[in-house]
Amino acid sequence: MTKLKARYAVFGNPVEHSKSPDIHQQFAEQTQQAMCYEKKLVPVDAFDTAAQAFFDDGGLGLNITVPFKLAAYHFAAQLTERAKTAGAVNTLIKKDDIIIGDNTDGCGLLRDIRDNLQWPLAQQNILIFGAGGAVRGILAPLLAAKPQSITIANRTPEKAQALVTQFQSLANSTALSSLAYAALNEQYELIINGTSASLVGQLPAVNALIYQQAYCYDMMYSKGETAFLQQANEHGAQATADGLGMLVEQAAESFYQWRQLRPVTESVVSSIRDAM
Ligand code: ATR
Repeated sequence: MTKLKARYAVFGNPVEHSKSPDIHQQFAEQTQQAMCYEKKLVPVDAFDTAAQAFFDDGGLGLNITVPFKLAAYHFAAQLTERAKTAGAVNTLIKKDDIIIGDNTDGCGLLRDIRDNLQWPLAQQNILIFGAGGAVRGILAPLLAAKPQSITIANRTPEKAQALVTQFQSLANSTALSSLAYAALNEQYELIINGTSASLVGQLPAVNALIYQQAYCYDMMYSKGETAFLQQANEHGAQATADGLGMLVEQAAESFYQWRQLRPVTESVVSSIRDAM
């Protein structure tokens, strides 16, 4: 008799190029879990119906990608603290018949930067490009790592300032502020790109001297070097990394929330990279 497999999926639109099924398949094999993981293209106006049907049908967990992270936040019956702070849900967990909304993105970034890359965070001066949902999701865990300062720069400065205001109460000893791109001229030890601009080859208009000696992390990833990392390398960055490690780490944290098992991520990152 075949053992009934636990069912998981990623919901998105578009979802065709999602790497999550491949990543979770590898986690499941590694940890010997009898589970299946599909990707589902959900119509933009039908998230609730599709999610409800999935769980009613016995599904145990979902990953949520663009454009449904806010819909999932409202769909969840309960939210974890980190999902509340991020204002978005990338993971749904069915536990004791209750659907819990979680957010593993920030944790994924921290694991990649701090544990995998071993770049320093405490007492560092961090610059973040962008002020959308992706950046909102990483601010609380970054502040918890106690950097000296976090500066947010965004094309629309009011959005950066709104994040500063919203997260000020979590800043403690970290100086949290916003600046216009054109006003950046200080030396930052770590620069994180949280804009989607890099994938279409566009870059924030900054003085390229800021990259000198900086650790530069792009939350986006691509087959070759992203435009942001290319610019950083051309201008003397200390080290660079794209967001593939973050992608695999956020998946590992979702997997842990679903299965209470922590998969090894290094070999999965390599295999996904090789398949790109
Ligand atoms: P996400 O949830 O992925 O963060 P988002 O909320 O649409 O998506 O935010 C996208 C971010 O990329 C924003 O900070 C956006 O800047 P604006 O707030 O000014 O729109 C930034 N972004 C997108 N395209 C950009 C470009 N060509 N140059 C600079 N910033 C860009």
